[in-house]
Amino acid sequence: KADLPVYTLHEVSEHSTKEKRIWVTYKEGVYDITDFVTEHPGGDQILLAAGSSVEPFWLLYAVHNNPHVLQILETLRIGNVSKEDSQQLVADMSDPYSTDPQRHAALKPASVKPFNAETPPFLLVEQFITPNELFYVRNHLPVPQVDPETYELEVEVEGRKKCLVLTLDEIKKLPRHTITATIMCAGNRRSEMVKVKPVKGLNWGAAAVGTATWTGVRLRDVLIKLGVDEDDKKLKHVQFEGLDFDPTGKTYGASVPLWKAMSKRGDVILAYEMNGEAIPRDHGFPIRVIVPGVVGARNVKWLGRIVVSENESDSHWQQNDYKGFSPSTDWDTVDFTKSPAIQELPVISAICKPSEGEKVKVEDGHIVVKGYAWSGGGQKIARVDVTADGGSTWFVANLDHQDSAEPPQHWSWTLWSARIPIPSGTKQVELWAKAVDSCYNTQPETFKNIWNLRGVLSNAYHRIKIKLV
Ligand code: HEM
Ligand code: MTE
Repeated sequence: KADLPVYTLHEVSEHSTKEKRIWVTYKEGVYDITDFVTEHPGGDQILLAAGSSVEPFWLLYAVHNNPHVLQILETLRIGNVSKEDSQQLVADMSDPYSTDPQRHAALKPASVKPFNAETPPFLLVEQFITPNELFYVRNHLPVPQVDPETYELEVEVEGRKKCLVLTLDEIKKLPRHTITATIMCAGNRRSEMVKVKPVKGLNWGAAAVGTATWTGVRLRDVLIKLGVDEDDKKLKHVQFEGLDFDPTGKTYGASVPLWKAMSKRGDVILAYEMNGEAIPRDHGFPIRVIVPGVVGARNVKWLGRIVVSENESDSHWQQNDYKGFSPSTDWDTVDFTKSPAIQELPVISAICKPSEGEKVKVEDGHIVVKGYAWSGGGQKIARVDVTADGGSTWFVANLDHQDSAEPPQHWSWTLWSARIPIPSGTKQVELWAKAVDSCYNTQPETFKNIWNLRGVLSNAYHRIKIKLV
């Protein structure tokens, strides 16, 4: 194998069609699978890896965990992955995004610069944990290049001299803590709200969400080390600054209330691992704060500085974005000082399989519907209801995968499925799903009355139309 040619990940990515030949990577190997596609026992799905790595899919489909599969793959080997490749090292000064990492081809971008992309929805329900390479990405700015050897995290209390400066090694020496948490963008499912009336924002489907295990140190431990007293009446917020910045030098920032950061049960961590690996560059390498139960926007990536303060972060994203408003508020009347910054997200669910417009085979008079449900603030999903007849009959879904943690520390989603009877001869149905959380909060029926100008908190019943065969 050593004498085979070396290819960059970029070169591999250019081979994603039959005409150009279909290449994939597995560990350090490059493979031409064009002629194997029609023989693949798993069918066309193999094309999801075209131009990229097969590894995240093999985490989802364990049938590949078999020497026989690797034998087939080795017969298709054409080269090796270039070592320097995982990051483009030469920056193009005219393009601040030129040093962004290579992404998996299955992540379909909603915007490229900055990079924003969601997971194909049906893959979300294959497994409780979302593989790192398929986890949705929400970046506002270019991905910073951080050298782990020289990285330092500053932690301070506003107006006080004493401050902590921690290297990555020093952070890793503090007691480790692992949690499983779902992270969701405030704009998840915005594309459905838009149908009521246009909004400003990326057109997210239902997959701007994912679940991972996160390992790091408790923020509480670091703040206690700094001498923060949680009963100090003056200190109310913990501000986070990212190392990503805009052309004027302003960094991404957000804050959370001090009580959450200091609470033993809050589980806020400074994470350095995602699903057992160093956090990938797109998700905040080397350190990101995980604020479980709280909107994605406060889970600041590439963390550079933490400030305990009387005030919330003054960043654009805390003050003038990620807030909810009345359906009658428009861009002429909106006053961002009048709404609180979103923290805990409301209960939500979505159908991930089948997808809108899909032809579904009725078997034994039934179809199977799968999806996720989640609620912010550490609430657990108590029930998911699904209807195929506009709510005349509701079927209670089976909660297939649910973490055993009790509320208010239930940070992860629930994967559910429902077997829905279909009267014979039915040609198409509209499926609706809604979830109920452990506070008995449930989803609103329609988007009309929760519409808001930024298209956030888009959690009405999920509805999809499918065809039956
Ligand atoms: C099944 C090979 C990529 C999805 C299989 C099986 C083989 C195979 C040999 C049958 C395993 C068994 O039953 O023992 C390969 C090779 C790949 C590849 C050599 C390298 C390019 C993928 C990708 C996906 C995928 C990228 C998904 C995105 C599946 C599924 C099955 C399967 C869903 C199960 C089919 C069933 O049991 O009905 N694959 N596969 N495979 N593969 Fe792949
Ligand atoms: N942190 C920094 N530094 N810069 C960002 O652009 N985006 C936020 C948050 N943290 C962001 C950030 C938003 S809006 C979301 S939804 C999540 O990161 C997305 O996390 P992910 O890309 O790991 O899925």
